[in-house]
Amino acid sequence: EKGGYEHFMLKEIHEQPRALRDTILGRLEEEKVVLQEVDLSSEQLSQMHKVYIVACGTAWHAGLVGKTLIERWAHLPVEVDIASEFRYRSPLIDEHTLVVVVSQSGETADTLAALREAKNRGARVIAITNVVGSTVSRDAHDVIYTWAGPEIAVASTKAYTTQLEGMVLLGLYLAQVKGTLPASKIGEIISDLKEIPAQVQEILDQESSIRQLAQSFVGVEDAFFLGRSLDWAVSMEGALKMKEISYIHAEAYAAGELKHGTLALVTEQTPVIALATQRDVFDKTVSNIKEVKARDAKVFGMTYKGNTSLAKSVDHVIYIPETRDELAPILTVIPLQLLAYYVSVARGCDVDKPRNLAKSVTVE
Ligand code: M6R
Repeated sequence: EKGGYEHFMLKEIHEQPRALRDTILGRLEEEKVVLQEVDLSSEQLSQMHKVYIVACGTAWHAGLVGKTLIERWAHLPVEVDIASEFRYRSPLIDEHTLVVVVSQSGETADTLAALREAKNRGARVIAITNVVGSTVSRDAHDVIYTWAGPEIAVASTKAYTTQLEGMVLLGLYLAQVKGTLPASKIGEIISDLKEIPAQVQEILDQESSIRQLAQSFVGVEDAFFLGRSLDWAVSMEGALKMKEISYIHAEAYAAGELKHGTLALVTEQTPVIALATQRDVFDKTVSNIKEVKARDAKVFGMTYKGNTSLAKSVDHVIYIPETRDELAPILTVIPLQLLAYYVSVARGCDVDKPRNLAKSVTVE
């Protein structure tokens, strides 16, 4: 059932090109996104003043990427909330609010409760979920299914990348209905999105280099993940994977925030993974990388193939295929998933069933 792989996690990492293809299948025309399960007229959407994205764990991390996409493309303000916080803080939502809940399983107790709370307050609720017929899919007004297929490993991988695609589709859809992006621009993003599954495969084909790199992490106690903008959002996912399955204390930091405290913790014992794909903040990120290098940290950078400038400031560069910045998260997370996986294996951890964790958190 593991299809020849040693663990479900590795199998699911490798299923991503297929999962990503299936999730966009039938939803992309040349300059238009088609979301059959979402039915928002431009009239209704013009009544929406704010978006809340609500989820837990990895799904929340997908929401952090979604915020930037929706704000950038559809010009709607977005708040991203952890479900267990959202539901207890009397959020300011009403019939002018669009709530997007994200859940792989569609059964997470806090996410479900948040969904119900939002509905009670009159919000329109769209779910992004992976399980057809799940409670979340039944309770939401509209559904965008991710077609990742069953995810068995506790650590989420293919659910995350397909949730990111769900966010891209939703962001484009909202922009299309609101008229905030010209069709030609939507067309350009769509053609880049279609390249993503093959680009993920390209990264997977380089797996052995990440496997080697994992050796540098086997004996460490702490690791830092840095980035700005969307790279920061993916850093959080990378750090979570590392903590969850390899039990290494990992922290994600907004690169520019380092010197406000955390830099004090950086020493030669703390490897740093620095994502530098977002072109508008690339130079700023490199300045932050130099700050950690000056503390003798070993730095692993990640950027687009063809960008030779990062190599000067780091110890090792992981190159990903070139894409537009908004789609980069779907690529940058792949080496981070593989890294967490190989570190976990090397440390002899139970990769698919990490201690104290359950696949689906149905208690509050
Ligand atoms: O099924 P859900 O997407 O609602 O689950 C949310 C989280 O429990 C889940 O993403 C968790 O953080 C993963 N184990 C992370 O790898």
